Amino acid sequence: MIRKCLFPAAGYGTRFLPATKAMPKEMLPIVNKPLIQYAVEEARDAGLQHMAIVTGRGKRALEDHFDISYELEHQIRGTEKEKFLAGTRELIETCTFAYTRQVEMKGLGHAILSGRPLIGDEPFAVVLADDLCLNLQGDGVLAQMIKLYKKFRCSIVAIQEVPHDQTHKYGVIAGELISEGIYRVNSMVEKPAPEDAPSNLAIIGRYILTPDIFDLIADTQPGKGGEIQITDALMKQAQNGCVLAYKFEGLRFDCGGAEGYIDATNFCYEQLYLNGL
Ligand code: UTP
Repeated sequence: MIRKCLFPAAGYGTRFLPATKAMPKEMLPIVNKPLIQYAVEEARDAGLQHMAIVTGRGKRALEDHFDISYELEHQIRGTEKEKFLAGTRELIETCTFAYTRQVEMKGLGHAILSGRPLIGDEPFAVVLADDLCLNLQGDGVLAQMIKLYKKFRCSIVAIQEVPHDQTHKYGVIAGELISEGIYRVNSMVEKPAPEDAPSNLAIIGRYILTPDIFDLIADTQPGKGGEIQITDALMKQAQNGCVLAYKFEGLRFDCGGAEGYIDATNFCYEQLYLNGL
C-alpha cells in the first residue's frame, strides 16, 4: 500500500519574488501555518507516514520547521502559546521526514526523479505544497485518490476544470470517462495554448505514481520550457498501460501566485482560524 509522500519543493518561486528570495515558497504562511504544513497534514490524514521532501539551495527552513526548537519550546512551555505548536509537534512525533536535494532545477519531472532514493520501488503520492487543497466536507484530496488507487492500482493525476484561456498554465489531459469524475487518460499536453488544448481538464498538484515512472522520467528529454516534465513521462505511462485522471471533491488554491494566495488566506482565516482549527 502507499506509505510515502514526495514533496517537490526545490523550485525558485519566481512568481512570488521578492518574498521567495531568501525563503522557500513552501514556507509562506496561510494565516499562521506554512503551506508545507498543510501539505504534510493532508498526507498524514490520508494515512501516509513517511514524508520525503525534495529541497534545494536556500531551503533549510523546511527542515528546521519539522524539527524540535528546544529554546523556543522551553520559552513557551506552560503558557497559552504552547497550543500554537501542538499541531507541528504531533507531525514530528507521528511521521518521519527525509530530505534530498535537487542540485539543478530542471523541472518537476526531474525533481520527482531526484526523490527516487527516498522512495525506492513502491507506489507513492506526490503533493505540490503551493497547490493548497481543502475539503471541509469530507476526505482530503489525497485520501480520495488513495481510495481510488486501491481499486485501480495505477498512476492517478488530480484534475480540475479551468477556463479555456488558462490552459497554458497547466498540463491538460484528454480521456475517456469511465465513471463519474474518473477518466482514463489517452492524451496529455504540457501548458498548451487554448487552441491546442485537448480539453479544459487541468492537472493540479496531486499525483499517485507507480514506481515505473522513475525509469520513464529518466528517459524523458527536456520538453516545454526546457524542463523535464512529469506530464511527458506520464503520457508514456498512459500509452504503455493506464493512467487515470480524477476530478476531486474540494477546493484548490494556486498559492504560487498572489491571487490564489490571497483567496486561500481569506478562506482559511474565515473557515479555519476563526473557528480555532
Ligand atoms: P512551479 O511551476 O510552481 O515552479 O513548480 P516554481 O519554480 O516553484 O515557481 P515559479 O513558477 O518560478 O513561481 C511546481 C512545483 O514543482 C517544484 C516546485 O517547488 C513546485 O512545488 N519544482 C519545480 C521543483 O521542485 N524543482 C524544479 O526544478 C521545478
